[in-house]
Amino acid sequence: MRILAVSGSLRASSSNTELLRAVAALAPQGFEVVLYDGLGGLPHFNPDLDGETVAQAVKDWRSRLLAADGVLFSVPEYAHGLPGVLKNALDWVVGSNELVAKPVTLFNASARGTYAQASLIETLTVMSARVMTAASVTLHVLGKPLTASQIAADPEMSAALRAGIDSFVAAIHAGADTAYSSTQAS
Ligand SMILES: Cc1cc2nc3c(=O)[nH]c(=O)nc-3n(C[C@H](O)[C@H](O)[C@H](O)COP(=O)(O)O)c2cc1C
Repeated sequence: MRILAVSGSLRASSSNTELLRAVAALAPQGFEVVLYDGLGGLPHFNPDLDGETVAQAVKDWRSRLLAADGVLFSVPEYAHGLPGVLKNALDWVVGSNELVAKPVTLFNASARGTYAQASLIETLTVMSARVMTAASVTLHVLGKPLTASQIAADPEMSAALRAGIDSFVAAIHAGADTAYSSTQAS
């Protein structure tokens, strides 16, 4: 099973990116997590630029999504909203449909960004993705300069991430989300 992990932060030492790297390190056998690193290279969304001559970066983003069995997001909140780079990336796939029926879930590096999380769920839902909130995990790593290895080595955090991965795999197999719940660890 191939999971595309998308961090909404371009920061070199992003807590959200480190969290996703930790997920990749903890992934069970047969569950491959690939980090998407092209967010910052996408052009500004403009429907006039779409079509056969669309930028290669957009083609890559679309084909990465298409090839994934599921997509795992971890995003910061900026001014009570989603980071513009992530919304821009999502705008590029509204019309091309790669997220339609795609299992997606949200892991979070901070419990604070509730507006961004709600906004992401709303956008993914209207794009007809299968939003599996039951697999959601929130870690409290914001403000702690933890690397992926440190997160993966922490017993409580790694257990929460493993539980989230297991729930996501189970939800993908089951084909539907069940109910909203989330796992938290500090
Ligand atoms: C311009 C700016 C605006 C922010 N706005 C919010 C906000 O509205 N709510 C919030 O909880 N955090 C806010 N933050 C804090 C970021 O969400 C937080 O630093 C983020 O988790 C960092 O993620 P990263 O380590 O992956 O880059 C803001 C940070 C910046 C730089």
